[in-house]
Amino acid sequence: MDFFHLIEARRSMRKYAETPVEEEKLQRILAAINRAPSAGNLQAFEVFIVRKLEQRQALVQAAWNQEFLAEAPVVLAFCAEPARSAIKYGERGATLYALQDATIACTFAMLAAKALGLDTVWVGAFDEAAVSSLLRLPSDLRPALLLPVGYAGKEPKPRPWRELSDLIHEAT
Ligand SMILES: Cc1cc2nc3c(=O)[nH]c(=O)nc-3n(C[C@H](O)[C@H](O)[C@H](O)COP(=O)(O)O)c2cc1C
Repeated sequence: MDFFHLIEARRSMRKYAETPVEEEKLQRILAAINRAPSAGNLQAFEVFIVRKLEQRQALVQAAWNQEFLAEAPVVLAFCAEPARSAIKYGERGATLYALQDATIACTFAMLAAKALGLDTVWVGAFDEAAVSSLLRLPSDLRPALLLPVGYAGKEPKPRPWRELSDLIHEAT
C-alpha cells in the first residue's frame, strides 16, 4: 500500500475477527518497532506480547471493560523504561523521552500492522497498577499503552478532523 494511502486508511479498530494473526506478520511488526527512533538511540521501552485469553480478559478489566482487548488475538503492551533514558538525560529522559520512545515505537507498530492488512487501536485508558500486576512487569517499567492487533471485525465509522489551518501555524 502506498504510504499516504496507508496513513489515510489507518483507523482505530474496536471490533476484531477471530482470525489469528500470522506469526510472520507479528514478527514484521516487532521488527518495525525496533526501527523506531528514540532519544539518544537508547530505546527506553520494552514491549510485552500478550496472547493468552485469560490475560487479555484481565486486560479488559484493567482497562475499564474495553472488550476488544480480549477479542484481538494479540495485544502488545508498550512500557516506558524511565531509568534507561535517565542515565543519559536525567529527569527529562525519565519523565518525557522514555514515554516518547514507547509511543513512537507504538506508532511504527500501528503503521506496520496496517501495511500488513491488520488493524489496531491505541489504548491509553487503563489502571497502570493493575496492568503491571497482571503482566508481572518489572517495577522499573511503566505501562504506557496497550495495542490490540488483529483483523478488522467491522468498518470504522467516519470521524471528523480539525482543519489544518486550525492545527498548523507558521512561527512568527
Ligand atoms: C494517547 C491516546 C490514548 C487513547 N486511548 C484510547 C482508549 O483507551 N480506548 C480507545 O478505544 N481508543 C483510544 N485511543 C484512540 C483514539 O480514540 C483515536 O485514535 C481517535 O479517536 C482518532 O480515531 P482514529 O484512530 O480512528 O483516527 C487513544 C489514542 C491516543 C493517541
